[in-house]
Amino acid sequence: MEIQDWKTIGFGYRKTNLNVRCYYKNGEWGELELSDSEYLNIHMAATSLHYGQEAFEGLKAFKGKDGKVRVFRMDENAKRMQHSSDGILMPHVPIETFEEAVKLAVKKNIEFVPPYGSGASLYIRPLLIGVGPEIGVRPSQEYLFIVFVMPVGPYFPEGFKPTDLLIMRQFDRAAPLGTGKYKVGGNYAASLTAGKKAKAEGYSAVLYLDAREKKYLDECGPANFFGIKNNTYITPKSESILPSITNKSIIQIAEDMGLKIERRQVPVEELETFEEVGACGTAAVISPIKRVYDADEDKEYLYGNEPGTWSTKLYEKLRAIQDGDAPDPYGWVTVIE
Ligand code: PLP
Ligand code: COI
Repeated sequence: MEIQDWKTIGFGYRKTNLNVRCYYKNGEWGELELSDSEYLNIHMAATSLHYGQEAFEGLKAFKGKDGKVRVFRMDENAKRMQHSSDGILMPHVPIETFEEAVKLAVKKNIEFVPPYGSGASLYIRPLLIGVGPEIGVRPSQEYLFIVFVMPVGPYFPEGFKPTDLLIMRQFDRAAPLGTGKYKVGGNYAASLTAGKKAKAEGYSAVLYLDAREKKYLDECGPANFFGIKNNTYITPKSESILPSITNKSIIQIAEDMGLKIERRQVPVEELETFEEVGACGTAAVISPIKRVYDADEDKEYLYGNEPGTWSTKLYEKLRAIQDGDAPDPYGWVTVIE
């Protein structure tokens, strides 16, 4: 593909060469296997299909100027998948198995890693599903762990250009004591209707409020939320949001750049006071926000049509570490040999 094509590929499924699979049966994990099929042959009564017993992850690999391919923080994704597994009673994929599967999937599809400077990257999607038949509501006895990859562009079509978010109070993504903190499919099913409405009205995502009181900001459909003011990076603390690895990384970078960090409840009205706001995640990277519209209050919060100074600095530093253009003092990247 030409560089121009990479710039416009968008975020979507694409077939690549091989995927990696590993089965869990009789209480233990088998060996990693390679498959060239895009399909699974699973039991119609599999718990993943009926009772949502599935968790997934998302991480990326980047090609550097030096031609090396680097995967970003896969140990964190491995740990989070274990956390999600605890939440819906699935066995842990051992950290080492997760990392070996990711490395193998990238290696076997290395020609699909987009070139340096294209703005695109290789998206890696690990998936863990209950495949054993159960018709009563209980956990499966058998599981399948899969890792597949595909080249992608930015999640929000605007890329690093500011985008719009919508607040609506008639939808919840996750319950306060529910599964919002796990990366499980049910949360995303619960977000489809609200997401469709937001997109139909020209917004790139929904900005959810806390489900209990509808007073505090939670997160966006596919990304965490942050605001910056008075040299302080502020991001919601909530039991029902996904602990974002991108957000954790930005917090580290921001701290080292001299920003103060606050992780706390963020009242909706505080939107008025931020100098910059953004969404962050693996797919979203850092997506600056130019406007948040609170539909129930008919109130809009405006942040300007260009990315803010801090958002730009944080974005550039994060991307430089991922690409290998900046040193990696935190040990975040793994070079695929
Ligand atoms: N929040 C939700 C609901 C997500 O789906 C994601 C994407 O993974 C994130 C936040 C960002 O998390 P991360 O930075 O680990 O990709
Ligand atoms: C990610 O950022 O990896 C996500 O999983 C977000 C979305 C595609 C669900």
